[in-house]
Amino acid sequence: MSDKPTPEEAQSEESPPEAVSSEAASSDEVLSEDGFLDDEVAAREAAESEATGSEEAESEADLPADAVKAGIAAARAALADVPPEPGAPKLDPILKAVGVKRAFGGLVAVDVEHLEIQRGAITALIGPNGAGKTTFFNLLTGFDRPSRGEWVFDGRRADRMRSYQVARAGMVRTFQLTKALTRMTVMDNMLIGAANQVGENFWAGLIPPLWKAQEAANRRKALELLERFKLIDKREDYAGELSGGQRKLLEMARALMLNPKMVMLDEPMAGVNPALKQSLLEHIKGLREEGMTVLFVEHDMDMVHEIADWVAVMAAGKLITEGTPDSISADRRVIDAYLGAHHDAAQR
Ligand SMILES: Nc1ncnc2c1ncn2[C@@H]1O[C@H](COP(=O)(O)OP(=O)(O)OP(=O)(O)O)[C@@H](O)[C@H]1O
Ligand SMILES: [Mg+2]
Repeated sequence: MSDKPTPEEAQSEESPPEAVSSEAASSDEVLSEDGFLDDEVAAREAAESEATGSEEAESEADLPADAVKAGIAAARAALADVPPEPGAPKLDPILKAVGVKRAFGGLVAVDVEHLEIQRGAITALIGPNGAGKTTFFNLLTGFDRPSRGEWVFDGRRADRMRSYQVARAGMVRTFQLTKALTRMTVMDNMLIGAANQVGENFWAGLIPPLWKAQEAANRRKALELLERFKLIDKREDYAGELSGGQRKLLEMARALMLNPKMVMLDEPMAGVNPALKQSLLEHIKGLREEGMTVLFVEHDMDMVHEIADWVAVMAAGKLITEGTPDSISADRRVIDAYLGAHHDAAQR
């Protein structure tokens, strides 16, 4: 039997809106529990209480293009001096994970001692098949529970959050096997992506005019995103009629309904034809231009070279090295990890 949630289970965990209000009320207790990453959380909270205005997502959207470009340059500069070593500290990490372990029976699928993801940059997570990349994504986003481990996302302890709480905190992921609901229209898939936000204000949900205003806003946003991802003509089609590549685009568009701070993409380019691949690449770069942080799993090193600012490498559950795409390509440990995996596969 597999512990992994089936697509349906994972989907249903995403958010029954009525459950959201009661769970959300208890999330602060969870965050204040003891843990050695809590000093960082406290520091971040103190900094936030000093800052005026909490609508971070809104103010980011209003940033002039020059400021956004400066932000990207700063993110890259922040990585320029980071040593190419596993667990290397970053100047401004949006995510910091410590001692994250997940075992399935005797198999240790993930055993990451320390990983920091630089805010505003595109980080690729690479590694041979079975390295633990998807399991690590599942853990970080609350779709699976670790045997042990702690992590802080954007100043908040996130290791006890449920998947919808993680998404609402701004860490949103897509799946290696796309999870578009095939017997629903493209538009409805988008609106489901925003369902978390409806539950965000329980009382507003009870007052029809407020609820309707929210729904109208969601529709406007969905249409904008479908336009941007060139799916607008497909909005009334069933998601099941889309090509594999279009489903990947739909999943990315749906993730953006939640105004994420960090987007995690599990093999966004797999099974996508070359023409759509290029457009997916441009969309991923676009996320960075808007100030988002991107963490994506990819096997194709050409793709990694083209868009990643930084690369983290996993093998047999562990983070074996990190570095710029150039330093990673030349790294003996990486070459050995891939050759080792091929060697093992050949022997089976
Ligand atoms: N639910 C589960 N139950 C038992 N073993 C699992 C489960 N999920 C993953 N594993 C095992 O954990 C290891 C890591 O798997 P994972 O899917 O995370 O690898 P991956 O790096 O994403 O690989 P790929 O590149 O093929 O997608 C594999 O050995 C896999 O068989
Ligand atoms: Mg995987």
